Amino acid sequence: MNRLIVISNRVTVPKARDKAQAGGLAMALAAALREYRGVWFGWSGKSVPQFTGQISMHQSNGVTVALTDLEEADVQEYYNGYANKTLWPLFHYRNDLTAYDRSFNLGYQRVNARFADTVRPLIDPDDFVWVHDYHLIPLGRELRQRGVKGPLGFFLHIPWPARQLLVTLPRDRALVEALFSYDLVGFHTEEWLDAFVAYVLREAGGTVLPDGRLSCFGRTIRAAVFPIGIDASNFVDMLQTPDSIRARERVERSLNGRRMIIGVDRLDYSKGLEERFVAYEHLLATRVRHRRDVFMLQIATPSRGDVGPYQNLRAKLDALAGRINGGYADVDWVPLRYVNRAYRRDELAGMFRAAQVGFITPLRDGMNLVAKEYIAAQDPEDPGVLVLSRFAGAALQMKEALIVNPFSREEMADALDRALTMDLAERKRRFEPLMHSVMTEDVAAWRDNFVNALREAAEVRVQSEVA
Ligand code: ADP
Ligand code: F6P
Repeated sequence: MNRLIVISNRVTVPKARDKAQAGGLAMALAAALREYRGVWFGWSGKSVPQFTGQISMHQSNGVTVALTDLEEADVQEYYNGYANKTLWPLFHYRNDLTAYDRSFNLGYQRVNARFADTVRPLIDPDDFVWVHDYHLIPLGRELRQRGVKGPLGFFLHIPWPARQLLVTLPRDRALVEALFSYDLVGFHTEEWLDAFVAYVLREAGGTVLPDGRLSCFGRTIRAAVFPIGIDASNFVDMLQTPDSIRARERVERSLNGRRMIIGVDRLDYSKGLEERFVAYEHLLATRVRHRRDVFMLQIATPSRGDVGPYQNLRAKLDALAGRINGGYADVDWVPLRYVNRAYRRDELAGMFRAAQVGFITPLRDGMNLVAKEYIAAQDPEDPGVLVLSRFAGAALQMKEALIVNPFSREEMADALDRALTMDLAERKRRFEPLMHSVMTEDVAAWRDNFVNALREAAEVRVQSEVA
């Protein structure tokens, strides 16, 4: 088997007992890498006065990890800047929050070149190189320029935006052209793939070849859909750990016979947290019978706290939570438990199990793994109900959930009401196909499908170079 060199901005190998390892990419990649020999390379999360290109290597929970520090200016311009003030909001359809600053793009290109210089000595000719996410789109081009000739794949963990949005980005074509250095470019859903193809055909003058490959900028690539899954059997097993059981019992003891609605997210404006709070408030306002017999637990781990819109969101959510609890709480009932800390994965699994409703309503999300974790944690004999935004990539796979428009508080409150009053037969009817797809379309299937497609795409490239 060829080695796999995985490259992503953030490298975290989560263990059941780890707390602060939020982020779908980290969860998925650690599970994938345990199966292959190989290396996971990325940023250490630390900044130094001057970039050195030194690598520190260690073993973490069965995975070889190679890390490099970044310069302070790199962190500002590349991570806080181009990645999280430019690409993240734009790709999540928030061009009102998108900052177009030339220094950010310069920092982005610089860090991608530095990553390429640093990781290049780790790459052997037979290795498969798999680059992840929006931080590192130009890395493939940089690696090719440094003589990497083997299979080179890219996977985007966030949405690909509509063509009309992407054209607002200065140097949009250069960003798309960079993707044509890979053999294979993967997306979570058909929707994101279609948007990418539309840009290539209509903005960049590309064509679709008879075998389905895309040709543009004088190069040919394969672009395809690979919906990511969770490490489902591991998640189910985790429910049996003493810590998971303790976490579940702790929550259950506090229920006092009430039902719980749960949301778990990074504290990010793409997750629709404000809208979710308002919808829950609307439920309390319009369905008096649910007052006192329900509460909502929202766990929102702080994320990207150096970036303005994240700070603003945190302040808004604090105020909203105060308004809801101020308006409806009683001496023995708090309607909204709003928690800003991270929990261990086994504890989270236990809390999902204790919740009658999973309330997952991003305004836009590449996939959303929390929706899959909620399902994996349910008791098949008495499952809870998933209320899921139609704008999460996961909604395309999880059709048996109650699918809602997260921009409509009425629709979301209706769905909560329906979920809270749904009979066991319907809950089971909805749960069974959802659980089946979570268990079968898991992270191993995602990884194997991508790696096999990468092997094929690279072979086709080599054949066409020879011809
Ligand atoms: P994103 O990648 O945008 O953060 P996903 O839903 O795809 O969103 O993945 C989030 C991952 O991070 C999930 O595995 C989830 O369990 C984990 N996570 C989110 N919030 C927390 C938290 N407070 N504590 C621990 N893990 C968390
Ligand atoms: O899954 C999307 C993603 O942006 C990952 O690339 C990232 O690691 C994760 O969310 C968490 O964000 P951050 O690395 O900025 O903390």
